[in-house]
Amino acid sequence: MGPPGVGKGTQAAQIQALLGVPHVSTGNILRGAMQQNGSPLGDKVRSFVESGKLVPDALMGDLIAERLGRQDAEEGFILDGFPRTLEQIDILEGVLSRLGLELDRVLMLNVPEAEIVRRLSGRRTCPKCSSVFHIDSRPPAVAGVCDVCGAGLVQRPDDTEQVIRERMKVYTNQTLPVAEAYRSRGLLIEIDGLGEVDAVRARLTSGLGRV
Ligand code: AP5
Repeated sequence: MGPPGVGKGTQAAQIQALLGVPHVSTGNILRGAMQQNGSPLGDKVRSFVESGKLVPDALMGDLIAERLGRQDAEEGFILDGFPRTLEQIDILEGVLSRLGLELDRVLMLNVPEAEIVRRLSGRRTCPKCSSVFHIDSRPPAVAGVCDVCGAGLVQRPDDTEQVIRERMKVYTNQTLPVAEAYRSRGLLIEIDGLGEVDAVRARLTSGLGRV
């Protein structure tokens, strides 16, 4: 968990390799659907994602149930971007109980707002493989080109000033209560997200009990 641009995707991609479980990012799933011409899911979610609003819970519930039910998630997974509302906590609990799994930990990254603005304004992403770069702190070897698959990097359409402001508002109003709910269940671990990517990863893996 954590506010927009705090580094959730960057860290989850690294920890996925360490733990050998898939990184399930609801944002990446939605953007993937939006890129496919004529995708019914893409058409349904586009206006929500591009305006920084949350996609309706029922739709997200179907999507997460389908993804977590796949074979590669049998041994566990890292969830990035779900749950984001109190209703989604219940949805996740239902899915996990059907799969005979339990949530181990909820890790929440925090950085000051000025750093969030810096991270989001310099972010470049790969539309093909979802790799994430930053023009200053994580530049690709060749400017504008993905190190992993060679595709041209883009700026996300929801990284405009106005939409970032809306995403921050949505996070405060709808997602911070999720953190509080997990805190009261003793599952929440807050992690300082400032510093080098490797240093943040070390704090996260220590929070997971896997140093
Ligand atoms: P989503 O894609 O989940 O967006 P988000 O939560 O706003 O998070 P971001 O992807 O913007 O940031 P991040 O924290 O992953 O940061 P990153 O690692 O890229 O969701 C998008 C939209 O989809 C939502 O607005 C909503 O519409 C919809 N949606 C998704 N899930 C939903 C749900 N459950 N319910 C309803 N709707 C849903 O890093 C940012 C930048 O910082 C990068 O450039 C990176 O290189 C850089 N960086 C990272 N770490 C560091 C570091 N340590 N030092 C310096 N730079 C760093």
